[in-house]
Amino acid sequence: MPEPLNDQPIGAFDSGVGGLTVVRAMRELLPTEDILYLGDTARVPYGNKSPETIIRYSREIMTYLRSHNVKAVVVACNTASAHALSILQKESDIPVIGVIAPGVQAALSATRSGRIGIVGTQGTIQSEAYQNLLRQYHPDVVITAVAAPLLVSLVEEDWLSHPATHLILEEYLAPMKAARVDTVVLACTHYPLLKAQAQRVLGSDVVLVDSAQNAASTLARKLMTGGLKRAPSEHSGQITICATDLPPQFSRLAERFLGEKAKAIRQVTVG
Ligand code: DGL
Repeated sequence: MPEPLNDQPIGAFDSGVGGLTVVRAMRELLPTEDILYLGDTARVPYGNKSPETIIRYSREIMTYLRSHNVKAVVVACNTASAHALSILQKESDIPVIGVIAPGVQAALSATRSGRIGIVGTQGTIQSEAYQNLLRQYHPDVVITAVAAPLLVSLVEEDWLSHPATHLILEEYLAPMKAARVDTVVLACTHYPLLKAQAQRVLGSDVVLVDSAQNAASTLARKLMTGGLKRAPSEHSGQITICATDLPPQFSRLAERFLGEKAKAIRQVTVG
């Protein structure tokens, strides 16, 4: 007998391990759901690639996830959400959730002054996806957007509290301080791991938001309204982590992003 639709896994993908910060929030909110995660480590980073390339990669990953019968997909990558989300949504008959709208909602609920900073990859910042959505909800918002291409490598190197990371953050976040933002969106899946350092640079009055929790709640709502949520049970959700390349540090990093032991890690081919 085929598996009931509700018992099928949720798919999630990112250019690498960063999207596991979103999966972590999904696990907290939806502990009985199975998750199939794909990190496109063979082709990371996405942040400096053209929109056409990101769209092609994202479509290939969707095909892979759909071939494993996922019931919904979370695009757990800001760059892929910025360039490919609307296309993937148009081409799919299952819910496809990105991380940008959830990040924008988090920022708008946090800000008091309407001065918001966005820090992300080159691709995310240049796409203006965050800026456009923020202005759509709040035309008067004052936005300071900064591309911070070095931060992904620093996180991958595990330089989370390294003095060099502090210096680089000082440099990238200086325009935010000058603009006296009261809220900063960490618009890249890697950045939540730099939250403590960024907070030190910006000061404790600035609220740092990321999309993970809001993306997980958006997913939970979509599953509920679409009748796709797993029926209440004792089942404890399993995570299968796939990657298009398995560098030696992958499982260590994956565990750091995920906040738990990463059991089943497999290398797969997409495209
Ligand atoms: N996952 C990407 C993002 O959230 C960051 C890493 C990359 O550049 O691929 O934008």
